[in-house]
Amino acid sequence: MKRIIAVIALALMVMLAAVPLFAGGQQDSGSAKLVGIAMPTQSSQRWIQDGGNMKKILEERGYKVILQYAEDNIDAQVAQIENMITRGVNCLVIASIDGESLTNVLEKAAASNVPVIAYDRLIRNSPHVSYYATFDNYKVGVQQGGYIVEKLGLKEGKGPYNVEIFAGSPDDNNAYFFFNGAMDQLNPYIKKGQLKIRSNQTDFAQVATLRWDGATAQQRMDNIITAHYTNANIDAVLSPYDGISIGILSALKSAGYGRGAKKLPIVTGQDAELPSVKSMLAGEQTHTVFKDTRTLANRAASMVDAVLQGKAAEVNDTKTYDNGVKIVPSYLEEPVSVDITNYREALIDTGYYKEADLK
Ligand code: GAL
Repeated sequence: MKRIIAVIALALMVMLAAVPLFAGGQQDSGSAKLVGIAMPTQSSQRWIQDGGNMKKILEERGYKVILQYAEDNIDAQVAQIENMITRGVNCLVIASIDGESLTNVLEKAAASNVPVIAYDRLIRNSPHVSYYATFDNYKVGVQQGGYIVEKLGLKEGKGPYNVEIFAGSPDDNNAYFFFNGAMDQLNPYIKKGQLKIRSNQTDFAQVATLRWDGATAQQRMDNIITAHYTNANIDAVLSPYDGISIGILSALKSAGYGRGAKKLPIVTGQDAELPSVKSMLAGEQTHTVFKDTRTLANRAASMVDAVLQGKAAEVNDTKTYDNGVKIVPSYLEEPVSVDITNYREALIDTGYYKEADLK
């Protein structure tokens, strides 16, 4: 009798120990859930960091991870996502190249019950986006435009100054938020005549930069300098992203800015990428907006946890990000405006970079 009771007790213990496996617990490596991360490109340092941080954090949380980059090729990104679905991912985290090109592939994800988290960039025209992890993109623009307003002393009535405007990629929803945030700061001074735009190019379509490409921006800056600044100097350039800022600075330097009395203009940026932080230390790029990729990766990982456990993720915005089909519940992290005066506090003291990285 005692033996029978012992055998039953043992069988019960084994069954209980096995319960988490059946409940889908991802702690056990045999039952670890698989997350597919689709990133846009390795040509920009920030996305390398985003991908690396996401992979690390998700693996620490017990997931298996497939991480792929599509080098700004839209078809390649769609193919990578399709392939991840075929390989049986349980969840997708996507930073899109073209936010409007994923409608069909997300239908496939939905058909396979794979939830999707939009990472940094909103995925448009699809109902199958569970959550959106990003920064306050309008505020990024406010910080960029506001920096120009402050440094030129526009509130104190100074001017007129010459400024030129650059925007991001028209297929990236974020580009419109950055542009609107910045132009809401600059427009009052354009109206008052304290800011002049000699090129007259102020509409989004005229100032946009496809794929955020630095060489495209450099070419446009070259053309503007040749056509409008043979007898005048540029005082400030609104740039939405560090890669574009570096292109703009190349054009300016080729035209003699930064030598002798011809000072480089104020040039804004975003992402605190290493080449731009180094440029700032060398007295060239003036400003950037730091968006800590570790914070964003943690936020997206929490959303992955929530959707895979059938729970609601924490969000702080349920109004702003209408993707054309639905308003995607979002968490907006805080961007930090950075220049030479606070780079140490923002980038070194937080452990994002080491002093030696900036040499
Ligand atoms: C945007 C992103 C920016 C910048 C840009 C170019 O979507 O929000 O931070 O990285 O893409 O990569």
